[in-house]
Amino acid sequence: MTKLLLIVLGMGVVPAGAHTDRGHVMDTSEENMERIAASLGVRCTHCHTVRRPDGKPDFNAPSLFKHTAVHMKVHFVDGLKTPDGKALDCMYCHQGSARFIPRDFTNAKPSNLSERMPRREIFRRMKAIEKALGVDCEFCHVRREDGRLAPEQPTRHKLMAKYMMDHFEGSLVTSGGTPVTCGTCHAGAAEFLPRSTGE
Ligand code: HEC
Ligand code: HEC
Ligand code: HEC
Ligand code: HEC
Repeated sequence: MTKLLLIVLGMGVVPAGAHTDRGHVMDTSEENMERIAASLGVRCTHCHTVRRPDGKPDFNAPSLFKHTAVHMKVHFVDGLKTPDGKALDCMYCHQGSARFIPRDFTNAKPSNLSERMPRREIFRRMKAIEKALGVDCEFCHVRREDGRLAPEQPTRHKLMAKYMMDHFEGSLVTSGGTPVTCGTCHAGAAEFLPRSTGE
């Protein structure tokens, strides 16, 4: 347990408001664990993947999803709030689903940002997104046969990015009151959750 905590705390500065009760970052009461599981629409064993010899979950043992859950608690629940000062909980973003970011773009329509935003502003914004995620334009956009970018065309990553623009950026602030940008959570990496780093 101590080892897991040290790994987690080593990931970054714990924002003001993150509390630890008896070495735990999260409230580990049965009631809260049930609430968390319901917020994500998963069973206890989604996160508590390690089993004891008798087949029961080893709640103490570290796992990638436990690590991810602690990341969410420290950086999102304790690190962010709504612009009118309301605290976030797991349900606020998850709404009963572990993987809730839309990825299926088969029915998505081409975007029309160019009609709503000056070209220079679009490029300034796109450059900032590139930097925040550590990716190229091609991470989200496809090219036409003549090699020119077709930025209005839907793609999986563009759909995910649009969701974050609509639901996170502008709708959240940090606990210190500064606006949330892509970089607040991404800090230069498209994938950053422990679930995907293989740690
Ligand atoms: C979304 C992931 C997640 C789900 C789902 C989840 N837990 Fe947990 N659980 C954690 C994490 C993370 C910790 C460690 C928290 C910490 O150390 O601050 C933990 C800790 C615990 C502990 C304390 C273990 C110790 O180290 O003392 C118990 C007991 C527990 N969970 C039971 C449950 C039960 C029962 C359920 C189902 C109702 C459940 N958990 C569902 C993530 C989860
Ligand atoms: C500010 C929004 C936000 C809040 C608040 C939040 N999460 Fe998340 N969480 C995300 C996003 C975004 C993902 C990635 C979802 C996806 O891949 O579709 C995620 C993914 C996860 C995953 C990985 C799920 C999987 O099966 O891949 C776990 C575990 C998790 N969150 C736990 C929690 C817990 C526990 C809380 C509350 C302590 C919490 N989250 C609060 C945004 C949030
Ligand atoms: C992380 C994903 C992501 C990256 C990287 C990205 N974009 Fe975009 N881009 C989007 C999304 C999402 C939209 C649509 C926004 C909307 O509809 O409000 C968009 C829209 C655009 C548009 C306007 C298209 C329209 O809807 O009319 C242009 C032009 C554009 N991007 C150019 C670029 C360029 C050039 C780069 C590289 C410097 C880039 N983008 C990098 C996600 C991305
Ligand atoms: C509140 C935190 C938060 C904010 C703010 C945020 N994101 Fe994300 N984003 C996540 C999480 C969590 C994931 C899942 C990362 C993982 O799987 O490791 C994710 C994943 C993504 C992905 C998919 C990456 C992949 O490789 O699968 C894209 C694209 C993305 N975000 C774009 C953006 C853009 C563009 C912005 C700014 C408009 C933004 N995000 C702002 C939390 C955030």
